Amino acid sequence: MTFREKSAPAAGRSSANTESRSNGSAKKSVWEYAPSAESTDHILLKDKYDLFINGKWVRTQKYFATINPATEEKIAEAAWASKDDVNRAVLAAEKAYNNVWSKTSPKERAKYIFRIARIMQEKAREFAVIETMDGGKPIKESKSVDVPLALAHFFYYAGWADKLKYAFPNQDFSPIGVVGQIIPWNFPLLMAAWKIAPALACGNTVVIKSAETTPLTLYKLAEVIQEAGLPDGVVNILSGAGDTGAAIVNHPKVKKIAFTGSTEVGKLIMRSVAGTSKKLTMELGGKAANIIMEDAPIDQAIEGIINGIYFNQGHVCCAGSRLFVQESIKNTVIKKLKHRLKSLRVGDPLDKNTDVGAINSKMQLNKITELVNSGVEEGCTLFQPECSLPAKGFWFRPSFFTNVAQSNRIAQEEIFGPVLSVLTFRTPKEAIEKANNTQYGLSAGIWTDKGSKIFKMVGAIKAGVVWSNTYNKFNPASPFGGFKESGFGREGGLQGLKEYLNF
Ligand code: NAI
Ligand code: MG
Repeated sequence: MTFREKSAPAAGRSSANTESRSNGSAKKSVWEYAPSAESTDHILLKDKYDLFINGKWVRTQKYFATINPATEEKIAEAAWASKDDVNRAVLAAEKAYNNVWSKTSPKERAKYIFRIARIMQEKAREFAVIETMDGGKPIKESKSVDVPLALAHFFYYAGWADKLKYAFPNQDFSPIGVVGQIIPWNFPLLMAAWKIAPALACGNTVVIKSAETTPLTLYKLAEVIQEAGLPDGVVNILSGAGDTGAAIVNHPKVKKIAFTGSTEVGKLIMRSVAGTSKKLTMELGGKAANIIMEDAPIDQAIEGIINGIYFNQGHVCCAGSRLFVQESIKNTVIKKLKHRLKSLRVGDPLDKNTDVGAINSKMQLNKITELVNSGVEEGCTLFQPECSLPAKGFWFRPSFFTNVAQSNRIAQEEIFGPVLSVLTFRTPKEAIEKANNTQYGLSAGIWTDKGSKIFKMVGAIKAGVVWSNTYNKFNPASPFGGFKESGFGREGGLQGLKEYLNF
């Protein structure tokens, strides 16, 4: 790491990310990180991506541009799958199911899934860079979280493929058939892995659709699937918008829908499949409580708060977006939080030193801005570190609100951005009541030195995942999913396998 010494604060994009130190005289030294951009030379991208149906690239009528949200430049065009294209993909998946995949032994299925995982691993760096370019997340996150976790899911479920009768002893089960999978833009490759790996392990065939702003890593995965020699039609990969998703949901030959996205669209999908025999898993929104007790290791908790809400620009369904601090330590926590926020580096997602990247889309930026404005209008106090943002692209400063009431919109609605609402409590009972005062129930965090407090509170909080003295920890072996309007069904672990079988 090289440092440049300056006599005045730097202008431009990185000035906020500089650290000021007094050198004993009136003159201030500003230390700045040297740029550390990840190279994009090794990235192989096409100008135009067709649909991946029946093991081949298939053209369609309409295409849309996918841009880099950090530069607003077009990266490539991707196919917008029509209803006819969806039909073609579903028929290919049905044929592959009947003629090939249902006759492939579990051991052979496992080999294919292992092979996909290994090829992905070889291309890990390329996947990470493309994920960052297409979606705006910091390269250090796509490299250390998105891609390795996606791989881990393929490896993990490959291991289960020929051991299902040990997973579910003394039970009769069979694959479901063709499954439709619809994913969001916050963790494209990882969500695809969460969905495709268990589906294949259980013997199903797949039609999956990426989200509007992030089609590219799924098409890279299509290339891997081709290279792995997976039989044609077992996995079909589409891109498109809500109409493409709806065509998958409504196709009569699709036997199960696995959806991750907004609660609003989740409800639409539930309405459409009501009265059919389609199985459903829904992984929807969240508004997690991250609870800091007065006996918590404060500095660790501060890191947990930062990771909980600013990881992936807060575009995280399980983000710790409501911070509950015990009143006695409120001032300390806020002081430390302010200090820590000032050191977060916002900017070029491809720079290895960047902590907070670009907001995924203009639309999402507008949504965050609107909700933050509502917080200010409702009388909450906004803290944002001073930082200059790049001129092009979509950016939002890491922010937090104090003086928040439980009824404020920013305390109730999913902002899905780098914005934290800080609330307080006096007793564990009050913390639990407040934590549960939400329509959602996906995740939560508890920070305390006392194990007994952890056990007591974990049981009382209505959330699918509760982390204690840590946050945002994932493992393919542990199930993930929600209560209430955060959805139902589980992904990951044995529970995640179960969702892809008929019993
Ligand atoms: P969205 O729920 O509209 O999109 C998710 C996926 O569903 C995309 O692939 C989309 O094309 C598809 N889709 C949209 N309408 C559909 C329909 N009628 N039938 C089938 N599929 C459909 O999410 P969007 O609009 O991108 O984001 C809006 C808000 O949703 C965000 O601001 C955030 O609050 C929340 N969100 C939550 C996510 C989570 O993981 N909890 C993920 C993405 C968004
Ligand atoms: Mg994009």
